[in-house]
Amino acid sequence: MITDNGLRMPKLGLGTFRMKGPECSEAVLGALARGYRHIDTAFMYGNEDAVGEAVELTTTPREEFHLTTKVWWDQLSPDAMQASIERSLTALKTDYVDLFLIHWPTPDIDLAASLGKLVNIKEQGLARHIGVCNFPLGLLRRAVEEVQAPIEVHQFEYHVLLDQSKLVNYCRSKGIAVTAYVPLAQGRLAEHPALGEIAKKHNATAAQVALKWLLDQDGVSAIPKASRVESQTSNFDAQKLMLDDADRAVIAGLPKDQRFVSPPFAPDWNS
Ligand SMILES: NC(=O)c1ccc[n+]([C@@H]2O[C@H](COP(=O)([O-])OP(=O)(O)OC[C@H]3O[C@@H](n4cnc5c(N)ncnc54)[C@H](OP(=O)(O)O)[C@@H]3O)[C@@H](O)[C@H]2O)c1
Repeated sequence: MITDNGLRMPKLGLGTFRMKGPECSEAVLGALARGYRHIDTAFMYGNEDAVGEAVELTTTPREEFHLTTKVWWDQLSPDAMQASIERSLTALKTDYVDLFLIHWPTPDIDLAASLGKLVNIKEQGLARHIGVCNFPLGLLRRAVEEVQAPIEVHQFEYHVLLDQSKLVNYCRSKGIAVTAYVPLAQGRLAEHPALGEIAKKHNATAAQVALKWLLDQDGVSAIPKASRVESQTSNFDAQKLMLDDADRAVIAGLPKDQRFVSPPFAPDWNS
């Protein structure tokens, strides 16, 4: 559990990108039944209604799980953000989300207006906590230091093959929790030979090693997507794995320049 700033966000969550309809509802329902207490969706995923089905059907009380959604980058004017959160809440069949994030910045983002609106959405009680995704360090600094936006969570790509130490350290220094997305490098890490070697030693799997490396870090949560029951169970059980210094040294030696999510509208990652 990450408990910065009054936030209580379970470190392990379920990602839902690319799952839709009944497959998505069943995956979320199953995950909640298996003990997951953190679900990640977004307006852009087109599955908030399916997640909402699970929110309605689950026996897990709403206040016992953390639900994140996001506003898409073409909806960042204050009026559009208000409409977006209202649409999301209707689809999700809930009165509030635990976390509302700006999904991607745009080159011309009006930081004061969009971040101010996030605060307003929190003040209305529609989101318990607020934050951003995919902000490069320079933009995050401007948001925090110039605009003084009370960002509570930053969600960005982070896994054993991508060095994000500058962003992670900055977030830590400002009390901003980190959520690592594509923590399995979109499934690739399940087959990674060096992680497989570490896993053998612990009678675990490469995917579990990749996840536990993230979860062991202070202030870092991870949201692997898993539709299959075996993957969901195995990822949940990764929390029990104990990595040692030798394992961490092997992981530190892996190449760290592999970014898998960089769509045409992505910011300059070095800005
Ligand atoms: N904020 C953003 O801009 C942003 C961008 C990208 C992603 N995200 C979030 O991050 C979440 C995770 O990213 P992702 O889904 O792209 O990639 P990921 O979580 O790194 O990998 C998901 C893939 O790994 C497979 N997998 C999961 N657990 C496994 C296991 N134990 N063994 C073997 N394979 C396993 C899944 O297969 P099965 O499903 O078949 O089990 C799926 O194909 C997304 O769902 C979304 O919620 C956010």
